Amino acid sequence: MSLLDNREPEPAGGAPAALLDPMLPRRFRIGHTRQDTRDTYTLELEPVDGAPLAYLAGQFTMLDAFGVGEAPISISGNPLVPGPLEHTIRDVGVVTHALITAPAGAVLGVRGPFGTPWDVSDAAGGDVVFVAGGIGLAPLRGAILELIAQRDRFERVVLLYGVRTPEDILFGDELRTWAKDNGIVVEVTVDNAQHAWRGRVGLVTQLVPRAGFDARRTTAFVCGPEVMMRYVASALVDRGVRENRIRLSMERNMKCGVGLCGHCQLRELFVCVDGPVLSYDRLAPLLSCR
Ligand SMILES: Cc1cc2nc3c(=O)[nH]c(=O)nc-3n(C[C@H](O)[C@H](O)[C@H](O)COP(=O)(O)OP(=O)(O)OC[C@H]3O[C@@H](n4cnc5c(N)ncnc54)[C@H](O)[C@@H]3O)c2cc1C
Ligand code: FES
Repeated sequence: MSLLDNREPEPAGGAPAALLDPMLPRRFRIGHTRQDTRDTYTLELEPVDGAPLAYLAGQFTMLDAFGVGEAPISISGNPLVPGPLEHTIRDVGVVTHALITAPAGAVLGVRGPFGTPWDVSDAAGGDVVFVAGGIGLAPLRGAILELIAQRDRFERVVLLYGVRTPEDILFGDELRTWAKDNGIVVEVTVDNAQHAWRGRVGLVTQLVPRAGFDARRTTAFVCGPEVMMRYVASALVDRGVRENRIRLSMERNMKCGVGLCGHCQLRELFVCVDGPVLSYDRLAPLLSCR
């Protein structure tokens, strides 16, 4: 038995306790782990009790590697399609390493889903710009797939994606499909190019001024390192996108995930319940004074 199998089963009869108490994890079994890049992996999780987890694109869960610790991780799957619960995780430390190295069949704890969604439907009727930096494409993936499922409700759709090197590009096959079959203009740029890279080199912010969208009718969804999001939001505002039409997904250290502990506080906001997706008109004054 794995270290990750060491929890008591759900109580028999009635609603599982984990559904009633957001601090109690539900048990999910790792079905498959796919390596996406040298340090990033996608876990497919199956509920041990058979009840799928309903969620909205942009929400996150607290993933518990039992005996090691918990980490907030966005759900990267398609919220409209039943199937395994997907999380795409970069191996940066103790918990994330335990999660991505846990063997198939191991049991993890899942709390949530928590937080605010992207709400991509709210952008229907206008242009949409997704801007992702690095692992930030993973939290946006569900919103992109949701948009594709109702593609004709949106006008121009652009995805601007920046990564450190060509080897760090996530979901490469899907990027090609989105561009070829789903009417999305996909522009990828890398910070450092070596090998046979023939694409763009430079920061993702540099793509914003000349990307093809009508700023006055655009909703933007931005996810990546905080400094990148600040510059991207500022570039979008300079292009004429309204602050209340720009949504950013914020990251803060989290413990409870449900507004109890204060670890994720950003001035008057608790990022776990007021976010992680927040509009730039709310965030701009908080980010500029940090
Ligand atoms: C709402 C939300 C959604 C997230 N979604 C994803 C996701 O989809 N995929 C993914 O790979 N990661 C995601 N993260 C980041 C992830 O939670 C952290 O990488 C993880 O908690 C690190 O834990 P660790 O024990 O592996 O690393 P640690 O050993 O704790 O730290 C390793 C390094 O990561 C830094 N770090 C620790 N916690 C965080 C944090 N919360 N945010 C940023 N840096 C941190 C530390 O400063 C240190 O440099 C998300 C975070 C939040 C708040
Ligand atoms: S993580 Fe505890 S209040 Fe947000």
